[in-house]
Amino acid sequence: MAEDRQKSVMDAGRKLLVLAYNLIRISRANPSGLRHVLGVALSGSSDVISPEADVRSLPEITLAELFGDKQSIRAVVEVFNDGAAAVSGLECIALSVLMVANRCRRVFEFGTYKGISTTQLALNLAPGGMVFTIDLPEDDPRYSLTISSPAERKLTKEAGKGRLVPEDLLAKVTFLRMDSAEFDPAPFLESIDLAFVDGAHSYDYVKNDSLKAWQMLRPGGWLVWHDCSPRHRDVVRFLKSFPSAVNRVAGTDLALSQKPDTDRGSKG
Ligand SMILES: C[S@@+](CC[C@H](N)C(=O)[O-])C[C@H]1O[C@@H](n2cnc3c(N)ncnc32)[C@H](O)[C@@H]1O
Repeated sequence: MAEDRQKSVMDAGRKLLVLAYNLIRISRANPSGLRHVLGVALSGSSDVISPEADVRSLPEITLAELFGDKQSIRAVVEVFNDGAAAVSGLECIALSVLMVANRCRRVFEFGTYKGISTTQLALNLAPGGMVFTIDLPEDDPRYSLTISSPAERKLTKEAGKGRLVPEDLLAKVTFLRMDSAEFDPAPFLESIDLAFVDGAHSYDYVKNDSLKAWQMLRPGGWLVWHDCSPRHRDVVRFLKSFPSAVNRVAGTDLALSQKPDTDRGSKG
């Protein structure tokens, strides 16, 4: 153990020397590059300052690993030019691939917002499927647990939740309007193929939404979280304590866990 520690300190020392040498060379040969290097180093260092928010202990899987045993997947993605506070393009692809690979028919989403992730889920449903998506009611956006981030509190009050879901998909979406803390998962128990947690990101809400999602999943179903990133410390803290194996999807802020299937075993 002490030997390992000494080795890693020496390795860090060596890297620091090479970095200092490179910085001197950059400042002479290509001074505008300094800003880029320091920006990358600064952002990388802030990501790991707090051990609680450091996501690296959650193992990473590639997008291809979501394919299961399939060679290729024909998934559909609707791209929006209004993507603030929503899943990214690669995250839309990952969600869509997961939906098709697992023939998801019943899907539950926490956090509709404008409906960008809802749209990807609805587009890739197996025949006869339905997406249930929950957000706060516009006429009464009160909630009972804590939301510490002012930016998130502002989102809760925004009107037009689900407004970007295309008209032709509306028949495949059931909009539930209530505080997720008040939501009773009983009618959905063990019936959901995929649950997506992207509501409020405080520890209390992530815990509330995730535990309800887990109860609603059928054995072998998938729980997917958005915002597994150092910027959402509470999400990372919760995921690190989650009793089932959690993986991050490379290149995204998605994390997922498969509910154990007693007959078939589980991946993840
Ligand atoms: C980050 S946005 C969801 C983005 C969306 N999933 C997407 O990718 O397009 C979070 C949403 O969660 C909703 N929300 C926050 N607290 C909630 C609560 N207690 N119950 C239900 N929804 C809540 C907010 O109103 C907001 O619309």
